[in-house]
This record gives sequence, structure tokens and C-alpha cells, in this order.
Amino acid sequence: MTATPDHSVLDGKRVLLVISGGIAAYKCLELIRRLKERGVRVRAVLTQAATQFVTPLSVAALSEEKVYTDLFSLTDESEMGHIRLSREADLVVVAPASADILARMAAGMANDLGTTALLATDKPVMVVPAMNVMMWTNPATQANVRTLEGRGIRRLGPAAGDMACGEVGSGRMVEPMEIVAGIAAFFAEQAGPRPPIHKPLAGRRAVVTSGPTHEPIDPVRYIANRSSGKQGHAVAAALAALGAEVTLVSGPVTLADPRGVRVVRVETAAQMLAASQAALPADIAVCAAAVADWRVVAAAGDKVKKGPDGPPTLTLAENPDILATLSQPGPQRPRLVVGFAAETRDVLAYAAAKLARKGCDWIVANDVATGTGTFGGDDNQVHLLRQGTEPEAWPRLFKTDGAIRLAQAIADTFTTSNSPEPV
Ligand code: CTP
Repeated sequence: MTATPDHSVLDGKRVLLVISGGIAAYKCLELIRRLKERGVRVRAVLTQAATQFVTPLSVAALSEEKVYTDLFSLTDESEMGHIRLSREADLVVVAPASADILARMAAGMANDLGTTALLATDKPVMVVPAMNVMMWTNPATQANVRTLEGRGIRRLGPAAGDMACGEVGSGRMVEPMEIVAGIAAFFAEQAGPRPPIHKPLAGRRAVVTSGPTHEPIDPVRYIANRSSGKQGHAVAAALAALGAEVTLVSGPVTLADPRGVRVVRVETAAQMLAASQAALPADIAVCAAAVADWRVVAAAGDKVKKGPDGPPTLTLAENPDILATLSQPGPQRPRLVVGFAAETRDVLAYAAAKLARKGCDWIVANDVATGTGTFGGDDNQVHLLRQGTEPEAWPRLFKTDGAIRLAQAIADTFTTSNSPEPV
């Protein structure tokens, strides 16, 4: 794959997904979910063979749209003819594309709803082949693919590897997230070249906290949490990309330093606070670190040993709140202070309370309940809460794309308001 395209280009797009028969059809459920999370409207057509592998009901449930399976259904024809179905889309994606449907497309056949829609469409078409390796390498399939490509049809994959049929080679459908990336790349390309890089935050200073903190128990043990630092590092990189001079105060992480950013490495919350304050004055502070709430009052100088008295008792003290400290009014207060709220339930209510309690200007509210995969994962779905306005729901985005969107929102604040007061 080439560089990951910006998935925000997908928001509001309409995709007609033609699912043909093949074991890979089950992956379309994941594909539909991922596209929907990114704001894509997905309508699906299942070929007869596809219904052997995936049920129309599950496709309908995930796409939240009526699913089309039969060309001759009168109700479907009256509600939505195949012509309209094929044209009310920005892109038609055939996934998985079996050897059979590729052959029928190449021959211009229209013997079921999927192929009729494909023949009738005036929209770009992308195929994602999936089949046995011998079927894929067969000269007939290869000729069909060349014919389709010659007509401007785009192709993603197939990938090589172990296949459901037990053979190894080329023919496996590319993974759902790669299809999402391919579709995003298509729409990005369609949108044309990006305007020249604009640096709206040039001359602004920013401090960003990121990652976990480690609070020592003794020289070999510590209290920590699962934060990866991906979000904070991505925000630092995005602010730097918009021209800001960024100091990233990072707890222990395994990530590479973002480009163009000054990185200060710390371990504990106390060190993180000191390094953040040392980075002032700044125009912007973004606290994305998962700071440990407590530290051990008297960390042992030597390794604590097991003994006859049983386990040691740890006395904890509350750590300084870096976000709240940076938000305190005063000459050093950054003009815009942004916090993150990681919640497992009542996300918006808790985030709103946090916004008020900490005195910051914005809170990016994250749902980190088990199963959302937010902690340590590559993407998340957030709400942006600004003092005095309604929460703004953002689509599910890669953390890097969410960071770009946040940095852009920050830049907008600085370019649309000359007020010296926090906005
Ligand atoms: N934060 C901070 N210093 C702390 C604790 C939190 O700077 N000692 C910041 C985080 O970086 C984040 C925000 O405060 O921007 C909220 O963090 P979160 O862990 O969600 O909240 P807590 O303050 O720990 O509150 P609670 O325990 O009620 O969830």
C-alpha cells in the first residue's frame, strides 16, 4: 500500500457495493462497518451466489439500508429501479469480485441485478477480486481483467497468501481496511491535487502532552496504564505540520519522535508537569497524556522483597493535574487549552463536567469502553466539546486524521479571532 490517505474524504460519499459469491463475502460485513463509521452511505446488491455466504439480513442491519438481491422483484423495481440504484452512488465497488462476475462484466452481460447495475452505471467502478489462485491466473480471467482495466475499471488486489481453499498464492481478497484506504485514495484523487501547504499556525507555540506516566513503586516496579501515545504524538505532528513550534512532553512510549517537533521525555506526572510548564509561554496546550492519577507516596529506594509480613501496603497520593494547572488563569495561560476525556460510559456528560472542572477551553471526548479498541488502537470516534457550544460529533477516524482535524480546528480559532482571551 502507498501512504495512508486521509479518510475524511469519505465523509458523505455514496458507495454501491456489489457482493458476489465467494468465501471472502463475509469480509464485506466488516467493510460496510468501516465505511459507515467514516460517513459513507453504503447500499448493497447481493448476487444469488453471495447469499450462500452472507445473509441479506446481516448486510441490511450493518448498512442500515435496504439490500437488493433480485432483479425481477416488482417492489424493488417500483421503489428503486436498477438504473437509479447504479447512478445514486459516487462509486460502485464489486467486492469480492469472483471470476464469474469479472467474466460477466467483461462480456457486458446483464443477467442479474448486480451485473445489470454495473452495465447501467455511469459512475466509476472498482473491483476487488477474490478467488482460487488457479482461477485468478487462468488466462481467461487475466484477459477479462485486462479488458475491464482497459475500460477504466479500477482494481484492488488480489493479495497473495494462504487461501480458504488450502492453496497458497495470489487470489485472496485484500483486507477491509485496505479496501477502505483504496476507496479513500480514489476519492482523494478525484478531488484533485491538494492546495499548496498553508501554515496557519506559523509563529505559534504549542505544548502537547502524550503517552502514559510511570509512577515508581521501587526501582524495578511502577504503576502505569495502557496509553500508547498515538493520539498525542499525532496531534503534535499535525500542529507542527500547520507551522506551530511544538514541544511534545512524552511519557514512556515506543513511538518514533514526530518530525519537526521538540520532544522532552519524562516518566512521572510530576516531571510531565514541570516539563510542560518549562515549555511556556505557549499559545496552545493540548493535554493528551494519560497521566496516572496517583503516585506512591514513598517509593522504595531498593527493590521491595517478599517477606513473612505479607504484601506491602502502598500509600498513594493524588498526582498534580497538568491540564487543570495549565488552564489556571494568569499571564502564562495558553490562549487555547485542550484536554481529552477518556470515558467508558456517559461519555458526553462526564466530558462536559470535566470541561467545567478543569477550566480548559475544549475537550475531545473519547469512548474507551472495552471493545471500542480506542486504547492502543489506530482509530477512534470522538466528540469535540467547546465551552458554550453543543458537542460536535466527528466520524470515526484514524487517530492521525482526527489529529489533523483537531489541529485544523485550532488553526481556525487563531485565524478567525484576534481576541487575546481564551476562545
Ligand atoms: N490530565 C492531566 N493531568 C492529570 C490527569 C489528567 O493533565 N493528572 C488530563 C489528561 O491529559 C486529559 C484530561 O486531563 O486531557 C482528562 O483525563 P482523564 O484521564 O479522562 O480524566 P481524569 O482527570 O483522570 O478524571 P477522571 O478520573 O474523573 O476520569
